Order: sequence, then structure tokens, then C-alpha cells
Amino acid sequence: MKNRTILITGSSRGIGKATALHLAKKKTNLILVSRTEEDLKQVAIECNEIGAKTEFILADLSSVSNAKEFSQFVQKRFLNITDLVLNAGVSTSLRFEKNNLDNIENELGVNYLAPMTLIKEFIPYFKENKFGNIVSVSSFSALTPFPGNSSYAATKSAIFSLCNSLKIELAEHNIYVASILPGGTKTDMTKEFENFSFLLDDPEIIAQCIEKALRREESVIIPGLLYNSLAQIYKFFPTPVNSILEYTVKNFFPKFGK
Ligand SMILES: NC(=O)c1ccc[n+]([C@@H]2O[C@H](COP(=O)([O-])OP(=O)(O)OC[C@H]3O[C@@H](n4cnc5c(N)ncnc54)[C@H](OP(=O)(O)O)[C@@H]3O)[C@@H](O)[C@H]2O)c1
Repeated sequence: MKNRTILITGSSRGIGKATALHLAKKKTNLILVSRTEEDLKQVAIECNEIGAKTEFILADLSSVSNAKEFSQFVQKRFLNITDLVLNAGVSTSLRFEKNNLDNIENELGVNYLAPMTLIKEFIPYFKENKFGNIVSVSSFSALTPFPGNSSYAATKSAIFSLCNSLKIELAEHNIYVASILPGGTKTDMTKEFENFSFLLDDPEIIAQCIEKALRREESVIIPGLLYNSLAQIYKFFPTPVNSILEYTVKNFFPKFGK
């Protein structure tokens, strides 16, 4: 991993931050990206202290045009980016009929359109370098229904589906495409559900899975025993799992259920 230059979107906090700090221990070169200067700079300082050569770039990755401009900028500035960790994401966590179209459009922009554009813009770059890894942080909700957060789940299914096909399309160019499908994870995104912390994985677990994907050991990873087991059960018994999801949402997560 030492000679790799890994770009991580959404690395100012949560899973992206944990991944940056985890990879910094492997002495990789890191390029950290998000919108909040103070937080991102602090993560970059910590990564540099650990021993990883780290730069940070502020960018709003919520649209095709922003992501295209950003890709062209970083490709000019860094000639040897080897890996993309497409992690930046947002969740409105609202029942579909209560959600508004601006929220839904932003979710689609950050969770699908921007990472899709980055992938598209980086394919020629990786082809020229004859090497590249693309790891997208999708979600467990790409596999199952997520009542109460349906538009989020739809964006996560979209990026997962894209990556699943690209994995096959790009293999002949030595470009490896992988997806991580975390279940509930302890970050700002789930801070409203602190009382259910037993259902939430530590971001470090997700970071370890991202490293595994970057090492090309596994291309679809559902981190954590709980969510991995649930995914297996869902494959064979979707109807009872759907009922459990609906019951849990209505009774324990009122925000999703009303
Ligand atoms: N937490 C969970 O339970 C969970 C479960 C499954 C999947 N995931 C996925 O894991 C990924 C990371 O989520 P997290 O839980 O770590 O969330 P988080 O703590 O809220 O962090 C989200 C990150 O995305 C960045 N971001 C948001 N909007 C952005 C934009 N327009 N442009 C650039 N960066 C932006 C944020 O940075 P700034 O605000 O500084 O821009 C932040 O660094 C997401 O894709 C999420 O969908 C999370």
C-alpha cells in the first residue's frame, strides 16, 4: 500500500475520517476531500503525524458539473492517483411523502451523480496508468428495503448497481471496482439513533473492509456480523425480513415511520 495515492471523498468525519486514519498507518499517500475546512484540515494533520503524506482539497461534490471540474483539477495536480474511495454521502432520513424534492435531488447528487462522474472521468486516467482501484461506499440498504428512507436507499442501489457492472467492464484494463455495503454505523449520520448503539458498527470496521477492497481481496463487502447475517437471511426469506424492517421502523424509529 506504500506507493499508493488514495483519494477519499467525505473524509472530514465518520467513515471517511476513520478510513483516512486507518490507511495513514499503512503509510499510503492520501488526498482528502470534503467541504468543511476546519475538520478536513485537522484529519490531514493527524494523518501526516501518523506518517502518511497527506493533502486536502475542499470541494462540494453534489453535482455532475462540480464532480467533473474537481476530477479535471485533481488529475492535473496529481499524476499518480491510484485509488478512489467514493465515500461522501448524505441521508435525509425522511419518509418519502414527507421529503422534499430539493433534499431528494441533493441525495441523488452526492450519493450517485457525483461519484458516477468521478468514476467516468477517472477511467481514461486509470487506463493510461494501467492500474486503478475504485471503492464505493454504498449501503446495506442497496440490498433490502429501507422504509422511511427510501430515496436514500434508491441512490445507494444505483451506485451499487453501477459498480457491479463496471467491475466486469473494467477488469480487462486492470481497474478493480469494489463496493462496501455498511449497515448502521456510529457516525453523525446516525446520531439520532444513539440509543440503539448495539445496532451500530464502529467506523473502524468499515475502514478495515475498505482496505481489504483496496487490496483487491474482496469486491462486495457487507461489514459486521449482524448485517452480513441479515443479508444472507434476506436472500432466502425476504418477506419476514420486510415485516421486521417495517415493524422496527414504525415502533422504534418514529421519524422514519410517520
Ligand atoms: N453511518 C451509517 O450508518 C452508514 C450506513 C451505510 C452507509 N453509509 C455511507 O457511508 C458514507 C459515509 O457516511 P458517514 O456515516 O461517515 O456520514 P457522515 O459522518 O455524515 O460523513 C459524511 C461525509 O460526507 C461529506 N459530504 C457530505 N456532503 C458532501 C458534499 N456535497 N461534497 C463533499 N463532501 C460531502 C461530509 O463532509 P462535509 O460535510 O465536510 O462536506 C462528511 O465527510 C456515506 O456514503 C453513507 O451513505 C453510512
